[in-house]
Parts: sequence; structure tokens; C-alpha cells
Amino acid sequence: MRRAVCPGSFDPITNGHLDIIERASKLYDVVHVAVLINKNKQGLFSIEERIELIEETTASYGNIEVESHHGLLVDFCRARGIPAIVKGLRAVSDFDYELQMAQMNRGLTGVETLFVPTSPTYSFLSSTLVKEVASYGGDVSHLIPQAVHQRLADRIAERAAQ
Ligand code: PNS
Repeated sequence: MRRAVCPGSFDPITNGHLDIIERASKLYDVVHVAVLINKNKQGLFSIEERIELIEETTASYGNIEVESHHGLLVDFCRARGIPAIVKGLRAVSDFDYELQMAQMNRGLTGVETLFVPTSPTYSFLSSTLVKEVASYGGDVSHLIPQAVHQRLADRIAERAAQ
């Protein structure tokens, strides 16, 4: 079985993430989606909610396994025999940090990182921007899956009522 991992925070998953996960799912037998837990960052969605949304929106691909992980990505890969990390590159601005992480990860355990150029439709897209635009009432329905859009609207309304 050829395995790869698509890691991230996925708070929440966007159409840009889905583009990369779907393309990876056509290249590998199994694609693990790893939701990395960052204790220093308070997310809009809980880890369980993020996993649920990823499972729901990737179900049709047929070869996706979604899990959370606290710790180093290389340890997630080693424990599951995953030799490759697949990441989307949106623009040159992503490249510096992504290259550093790819080189560090390869130096740590030999895991390779493969970069997939993001579809130009999503080159500006990030979960952070989606949350910001949505929180001020902007339309983000074309940038996130329908299931996420509903949950995002609910969560923003809940937070505004607090
Ligand atoms: O969606 P994000 O927040 O841009 O994803 C970044 C992520 C989670 C993939 C990256 O921070 C990561 O791999 N974190 C796991 C901890 C780790 O392995 N750190 C060392 C990286 S060289």
C-alpha cells in the first residue's frame, strides 16, 4: 500500500485543502489526513469537529483516513509507515517555510515532502482568511464546502451571542 499524509490545522477545511487531498488521493492508495494539535492556538472548531468535517467532505474519495496528532509530524509518519508528506504550495510566500519544514523532516527521519501546486482558484485561500471574512459577514460560500459553511455560520453566530 502506498501511503501519504496531508497534514494541517484544518480550522476549518477549505476548498483549497480539498483540492490537494483529492489530488493526493489519486496518486496514493491511502491518504492520511493528520489534524495537528497545537495547544498554543485556540481554534474556532474543536479537533473532533475538524475531523468530522474532513471525514464528511472527503468521504467520496474512498481512500482517506482522518486522525489527530499531538507532536511531531515525522512521528505520525513513522508509526504508520508513511514515506511521503503531500503539501499544497499556494505562492512563493509559502515556499521559504515549507522548504525549511521539508528539509527538517527529511533530516529527522528521511520522510520526503512532495509539493503540489495549488489550483490558481485557491492561491489566496487560507482558513484564517475565511474565518476573518465570514466573521465580518463576507460571502465565503464559494471557498468552503457546504457542510463547513453551515457550521461556520452557526459558530460565528454562537460566538457573537456570547
Ligand atoms: O495548516 P497549517 O497550520 O499551516 O499546518 C502546519 C503543520 C501543522 C503542518 C505544521 O506546523 C506541522 O507539521 N506541525 C507538527 C509539528 C512538527 O512536526 N513540527 C516540526 C516541523 S519541521
